[in-house]
Amino acid sequence: MFPLRRNRRLRTTSALRALVRETIITPNDFLVPLFVVEGKGVKDEIASMPNYFRYSLDLLEHEVKSLWALGLKSVLLFVKVPDNLKDNIGTEALNQDGLMQRAIKTVKNVCPDMLVMTDVALDPYSVYGHDGIIENGEIINDDTAAFLAEMSVSHAKAGADFVAPSDMMDGRILTIREALENEGLINTGIMSYSAKYASAFYGPFRDALDSAPVDLIDIPKDKKTYQMDFGNRFEAIRETEMDINEGADIVMVKPGLCYLDIVRDIKNAVEVPVAVYQVSGEYAMLKAAAEKGWLDHDAVMMEQVTSIKRAGADIIGSYFAKDVVKLIS
Ligand code: PBG
Repeated sequence: MFPLRRNRRLRTTSALRALVRETIITPNDFLVPLFVVEGKGVKDEIASMPNYFRYSLDLLEHEVKSLWALGLKSVLLFVKVPDNLKDNIGTEALNQDGLMQRAIKTVKNVCPDMLVMTDVALDPYSVYGHDGIIENGEIINDDTAAFLAEMSVSHAKAGADFVAPSDMMDGRILTIREALENEGLINTGIMSYSAKYASAFYGPFRDALDSAPVDLIDIPKDKKTYQMDFGNRFEAIRETEMDINEGADIVMVKPGLCYLDIVRDIKNAVEVPVAVYQVSGEYAMLKAAAEKGWLDHDAVMMEQVTSIKRAGADIIGSYFAKDVVKLIS
């Protein structure tokens, strides 16, 4: 008998399609990246990220309230550090009254239940735009990890719920976990950027924070000695399993769309929540194509975030979070 099973039957009406849909996007899926700057009344659009802004602390308050009202309950903070406060070792990152520390308090103050995660990395604080301390033309691992542990403690003391090291130094999760435990900060979580690739998709983000690696003869201009080679797959599992063994509560794959095979590999391999960062370049590409009228912005956006979740993401870090939630609510 032809055919016993007609797969199109389950696609006949929108009610039926809704009933059998496997992957549903909700506001709970998202982690919202926020860029913070010094000043008052600043809401600066990032040139390569249309409709995405850097906020001064006063306007950050409004933004956080509006996220909460939309049902977005987790943020990931990044700061743009003034040039005169940058050096090789990231001294300013430990200033207990620094921009990040004040930003954490600002968010917690206006919205105590908002989950606050912080980017733990040297690059916004580094004159060289690197995620590590440089010595003799090399990004040195262990001193950087120790510094990131101090930075994590500083963020946790300011009120961060989670620290999110995005540097890819070896052993930094253990170093950070031990430092937090030693300070009695036992409930501060670690979301590790565990499989972070050396990607050209981070360009707009580096514009946003003015944190691109500088061009100097004796220092590599890219991040390939610490971030992963995009040709590698098994290495992502190894990196991720090591981070879990060192104490990571949540692991992350970054970027998103080009790496959904890795997301699925990791989802199948581990038993902690998996986050995926749909990064700045992914946001910029869709915004640009939509501006030209070449792609349907909202339709492509929903297809993208749904694909990320379908691939295995429990958490989606995305600049589209607000757009998505407005669209589906
Ligand atoms: C910094 C950091 C980067 C991103 C998140 N944290 C840039 C980099 O590694 O160069 C990229 C995020 C994005 O592109 O949206 N350590």
